[in-house]
Parts: sequence; C-alpha cells; structure tokens
Amino acid sequence: MDIKNKIVIVTGASSGIGLATAKFLTQKGAKVALVAQSQSELDELAKDIPGSFPISADLRQEDEARKMIKKVLEHYGKIDILINNAGRNYSSTIEQIETKNIREIFELNVLTPVELIQEVTPVMRKQGDGIIINISSGTVFMQPFPGMSTYVASKRALATFSLVAREELKKDNIIVSVIYPYITATNFYKDTLNVGPNNREIPKSDGKIPPADSAEVVAETILRAIETGEAEVFPHDWMKQWQKGGGRV
Ligand SMILES: NC(=O)c1ccc[n+]([C@@H]2O[C@H](COP(=O)([O-])OP(=O)(O)OC[C@H]3O[C@@H](n4cnc5c(N)ncnc54)[C@H](OP(=O)(O)O)[C@@H]3O)[C@@H](O)[C@H]2O)c1
Repeated sequence: MDIKNKIVIVTGASSGIGLATAKFLTQKGAKVALVAQSQSELDELAKDIPGSFPISADLRQEDEARKMIKKVLEHYGKIDILINNAGRNYSSTIEQIETKNIREIFELNVLTPVELIQEVTPVMRKQGDGIIINISSGTVFMQPFPGMSTYVASKRALATFSLVAREELKKDNIIVSVIYPYITATNFYKDTLNVGPNNREIPKSDGKIPPADSAEVVAETILRAIETGEAEVFPHDWMKQWQKGGGRV
C-alpha cells in the first residue's frame, strides 16, 4: 500500500518506536492518530506532527480502547492502517512473578491488540481494504531469557494472533503483518514493570551482540511492512536466521 494520504493509528505514539513511526509516516504523507495515556503530552507532540490527531486512552481498559477507534473514525472518516505498538516489559523470575502483573502485561501487549483488530476490521472491510501491523519482539526467537517469561510469552501470543488474523482476514483484503524489532534504544527498559536493578538499562553491545537500533530503524521497518505486505518483518536480514535456529544474544 502507498502510504500517501493514508489514515494511520499508532498506539504508544508518545515515545520510542511509536513516536518515531508517527513522525516518519507523516513525513511520507500519512495522517496519524497518536494514542497514549497522557492527553497533554500528546497535544504537545502533535504540534510537530502536521495533520495528526492526539487522542488519549488507557488501552488496558477495553471500553477506552474500543471508543478510541470510534473517535478516530469520527475525526478522519476512515482508517487505513492500525499499528498495534503500545507495549510494556516485565522482569521477574517465575518463582517471584505476581500474577496481577502477568494480567497487566497481557492486557496491554495481547488483549488490547486483539480488541483493536476486532474494532477496525468491520471498518476496513466496508472500505474494501486495510493494513494491521502488530509489534512483537525479536526475543520470541531467542533462547529463553531468565526473568523475561511474561514479556516474551505475551509477544509470542501477539505473533500468533497476528499470523492467524492474516489468514482469516485476507478474504477481506485486510493485510496483517507482524514486526520483530531487535533491541531498540527507547524508554522501554526504564519503564519495565516492577524490575530489579539488572533490567533497567538498554542492553549494551559487548562485542557479542550488535548495538541497539534507533527507533527510526524500526519506523523504517514498519513502512517496509506497509509497502510489501509481508507476513513477518525484521529490521535486519540476519535476524531471520533466528526463526530457524534460536538466536542467542
Ligand atoms: N525497545 C525495545 O528494545 C523493543 C524491542 C522489541 C519490541 N519492542 C516493542 O516495541 C513497542 C514499543 O516500545 P518502545 O520500545 O517504543 O517503548 P516505549 O518508548 O516505552 O513506548 C511505549 C509506548 O506505549 C505507551 N503505553 C504504555 N502503556 C499504555 C497504556 N496502558 N495505554 C496506552 N498506551 C500505553 C506509552 O505511553 P504512555 O505510558 O504515556 O501511555 C508509550 O507511548 C512495544 O510493544 C515493545 O514491546 C521494543
């Protein structure tokens, strides 16, 4: 799909990958609904993103998530692309996990994207086409990370919903893709839910792993997914090997 003049929803648009994507797609001619929790923060960011529509929602709340789609439709009159990007990390050994935190992470990382897919599907079907992009994580192909079970499980679940939705919706000309970002330098690590000291920092390149990507690299990957309609998209070709062998970083 050509991005020019398309109406795009980006969740988690106040920071990191979402903000970089909102800016990049706007530069390419799209109009972007910016979704995150703080209206004042989004209003401020929107000043530098022409044509954007800042709209706050706590996407963990199902009614707020679904209402957000309706408000975007009222504002722009159509929705061409949904980018399910909002997500959060949680670090804990399984022994110490608090199940309320599993719920919180799965609500945002898995249930919200499913609810938003449900909400945009009839809109896109009526329009005759649409694109849904889900932001998973390269961690789903890596060997198990101690302390990361909840996050990786949520991102595996999201990838599965994405691949199945792709099959179910292709008859309606709705293309669903999943992106697997590499380590990306954003607030994601700092904002990890309930962490010990070891996971607050962006993992450093120590010679064994490549340096973190910038959020802009992922924004470019998202545009590639929009343009090509591929099912599974990686920022780097070398990451595709991980699908075969289990990458270790
Ligand atoms: N950074 C990485 O290394 C990396 C790697 C692979 C995949 N990813 C994935 O990439 C996506 C974006 O992450 P990022 O790295 O850009 O992190 P980030 O900078 O922390 O951005 C997260 C965004 O989600 C929003 N958000 C959080 N809770 C929300 C809620 N309840 N309702 C609405 N919005 C909410 C945040 O805004 P508010 O808190 O203001 O609402 C923020 O805009 C996530 O799904 C993450 O899992 C990241």
